[in-house]
Amino acid sequence: MKVESTTESPLDTGADTIVVGLVAGEGVAHDVAGGALQSLLDAGEARPGPGKLAVTHAEGRRWILVGLGDRESLDAERARVAAAAAHGRARELGARVLCWEVPHKVDDAVLGALVQGTLLHAYRFDRFKRAGADDGEGGEGGSESLLLSAHHDVSEAVERARVVTEAQNRARDLQNAPANELTPTRLAERARELADAHEALSVEVLGREALLARGMGAFAAVAQGSYEEPALIVLRHEPAGAGGELLGFVGKAVTFDSGGISIKPAAKMHEMKFDMSGGAAVLEALGAIAELGLPVRVLAVVGATENLPSGRSMKPGDIVRASNGLSIEVNNTDAEGRLVLADCLVYAVEQGADRLVDLATLTGAIVFALGSSYAGIMANDEAWAATLLAASERSGDALWRMPLHPEYADMVKGHYADLVNATEARKAQSVTAAEFLRRFVGETPWAHLDIAGVAWDRGRRYASKGGSGFGVALLVELAAGAVGRAE
Ligand code: BES
Ligand code: MN
Ligand code: ZN
Repeated sequence: MKVESTTESPLDTGADTIVVGLVAGEGVAHDVAGGALQSLLDAGEARPGPGKLAVTHAEGRRWILVGLGDRESLDAERARVAAAAAHGRARELGARVLCWEVPHKVDDAVLGALVQGTLLHAYRFDRFKRAGADDGEGGEGGSESLLLSAHHDVSEAVERARVVTEAQNRARDLQNAPANELTPTRLAERARELADAHEALSVEVLGREALLARGMGAFAAVAQGSYEEPALIVLRHEPAGAGGELLGFVGKAVTFDSGGISIKPAAKMHEMKFDMSGGAAVLEALGAIAELGLPVRVLAVVGATENLPSGRSMKPGDIVRASNGLSIEVNNTDAEGRLVLADCLVYAVEQGADRLVDLATLTGAIVFALGSSYAGIMANDEAWAATLLAASERSGDALWRMPLHPEYADMVKGHYADLVNATEARKAQSVTAAEFLRRFVGETPWAHLDIAGVAWDRGRRYASKGGSGFGVALLVELAAGAVGRAE
């Protein structure tokens, strides 16, 4: 969908459908001749309740009135939901050119959220369906373009939201792709495509032999059960002239997690194609950072592999050695994410990352704890955690802090080796996973984001089923916030 902003009034654009937001206690800002919109509101047919919809025709256009709720609680999330609701109705009605009349006195976050909510809702993953298949959502093909009409120039905020949301949708494409197509090799190809498309990006990929040669015995142990070549994908954003700190983004990209020999139950195993969601967010975030031309250095390290049972698989009880020298008892082959990340984190530190954040669908326990509302954040550095939480507020990718504690650290100590990958007791599994990871970052400020609950099937109006693209907006916001920060 094409996205543009304009200072023309919606009626002066070529839009066939105009969206007007209704704020509780405020009238219609710009009514049509004859006051048809205000009449609809007065009659109670159009309501300011969040996401409520009404449609009418006037002056040769279709008008969609959508509720935005109270002015005080009108935030970006409310705007995303309203934009998704309006887009849904517009699509049903066969709108081609959709124009949002931007409500008065909203900040750039709300403005950007109108773009984000629309584009996320318009996203489809239907390339495996035959053309014209009815998905029950109505509308042929969807709108061609989205316009945002405001009194002042909003082009910068609109353009930024477009770039970030398109990257988020590309991450969803990677997530939704089935594991037989989206192999570690294919994910590495995607990183190469990004590097080819952007001057400031460069890529390097380490395969099975390189992992072994570098002593990445934890990552290699996960990969050894599969015929698919693993890929440690390194994507660097180094724009000309940018100095200062190097941000390190690390992503778990297990393209299919069967659990390995500690195999998972069949019921939801197919969902484990999404176990690469952290890696997808990291790669596409770098694409957006490059497209926006942010003058900040970023190192992305993505660990891509399958986790499968076979005659070559690692076995429960095996002891492996990570590239920082720590030995690990693999008590549960399904706790594979931390094995992959361990070597990726060590690598990122070696490559000079000044601050690290990893994104991983790491534990089922975080889904129990926080559901689909927040990703968990665990960090070894207060200032870095605060920076991430602030970026989370601005981006809408919500984070909730979980604790680290010496007692949790004790729980990952090994009997036969330095560490165990899975604790004996079914307790505190998200934070013990973080304690495990902490052993691989040394003194570098680091934060671990467990995105298992938010990466897919979030049930939000703008992204209900399938990959959510969680983390892309957050990482871009983090990079934008790092611009100019002194080392
Ligand atoms: N990828 C899974 C975590 C997961 C499970 C994400 C369900 C989303 C939904 C991860 O590799 C895993 O299997 N974790 C285990 C760890 C346990 C064996 C210590 C888990 O959470 O059960
Ligand atoms: Mn697993
Ligand atoms: Zn996993």
